[in-house]
Amino acid sequence: MLYAVIMAGGSGTRFWPASRTLRPKQLLALSGQRTMIQSTSDRLAGLVPPERQLIVTNKVLVDPIAEQLPSHPAKNLIGEPAKRDTAPCIGLAAALIAHQDPDAIMAVMPSDHVIGTDEQFCSAISAAERLVIEDPERIVTFGIKPTYPAESFGYIQRGPAIESDSPADRASGVKAYQVDQFREKPNQETATQYLQSGDFYWNSGIFLWRASVILEAIKANQPAMYSHIQTIADAIGSPDYDEVLEKEFCAIEGTSIDYAVMESYSNVAVIEAPFQWDDVGSWQSLGRLHDADADGNTVVGEHLGIDTTGSIIFGEPGHTIVTIGVEDLIVVQTKDATLVAPKSAEERVREAVKRLNESG
Ligand code: GDD
Ligand code: MG
Repeated sequence: MLYAVIMAGGSGTRFWPASRTLRPKQLLALSGQRTMIQSTSDRLAGLVPPERQLIVTNKVLVDPIAEQLPSHPAKNLIGEPAKRDTAPCIGLAAALIAHQDPDAIMAVMPSDHVIGTDEQFCSAISAAERLVIEDPERIVTFGIKPTYPAESFGYIQRGPAIESDSPADRASGVKAYQVDQFREKPNQETATQYLQSGDFYWNSGIFLWRASVILEAIKANQPAMYSHIQTIADAIGSPDYDEVLEKEFCAIEGTSIDYAVMESYSNVAVIEAPFQWDDVGSWQSLGRLHDADADGNTVVGEHLGIDTTGSIIFGEPGHTIVTIGVEDLIVVQTKDATLVAPKSAEERVREAVKRLNESG
């Protein structure tokens, strides 16, 4: 049976002031009417019903997420007592799923990406499921053709093609390869070499595997992490569960699944993603998601621009933003905070968040 795990514990500080502790990027509608986590869940509808979708997030976000996803059973919203990155998140989800269904296959995905059509996405997930049914130990990744030497992504080097006998795969035209190498966040020089070689993809951050297989991989590479997760799994159904979860999860040393497992696991396949993909990393990426106006401005909300060019304007409904004689600015208005910065300084939004947190 196929399950889905939506990872939703990120803090999204680069989207301040729209993004806040209790309303991070995944809970915002940056590309349309639905929020990013709602779109992530909607996208799966044809394959995995809400009953088999687990959302793993920080415990303070469970209530705001429940409001956005009213069809999901409360028990499917898993609150982590501390932020420990994606490996413990995935390990915990795999343990919960395996407890219910030892043969389960799970697709894991971020909650805050913009992805092409639901059909394209589901056809890739189904192809990955067939690859795992064919070889149960296999882990499947989804690769994006890189366009610049990004240092913020994982890279996947493809090896020989995996020929499929399945008529469904032939019909879908989905291409799959064995993976020669997985490398998380290389430096600029290495990323440039990878880009030039032509046989690397960016890791989309979406994975598919058997729950039992990823647990074994965590056990092999991160025995201490595994033992905390196992202790939590042993407490499932007991009255002490919440207490055990709190204590054991907080004791885990955090790391991402990319470092914990992907860089060293040998049986990995990559599917060339047959869908558009954008990780919506910062305010400027809104420019890729919306058509610009005649002056090259990206506008979400109500805006009057006079001699305004190349800017990103984001405001709440019912509030008009006016800009006169400006270029290449980011202007973000919310009820209680406003950001004005040149596009070139967008990375410094993190600095602002840090300073505001320090000053309480
Ligand atoms: N539940 C939970 N707990 N979720 C988390 C946690 C956590 O502690 N930390 C991050 N997440 C969620 C985020 O909300 C996001 O949806 C997803 O997990 C990935 O985390 P990021 O922090 O955004 O990872 P990254 O962007 O640095 O790198 C990953 O994604 C890239 C693609 O966007 C890696 O998998 C890279 O290899 C990949 O290229
Ligand atoms: Mg990310």
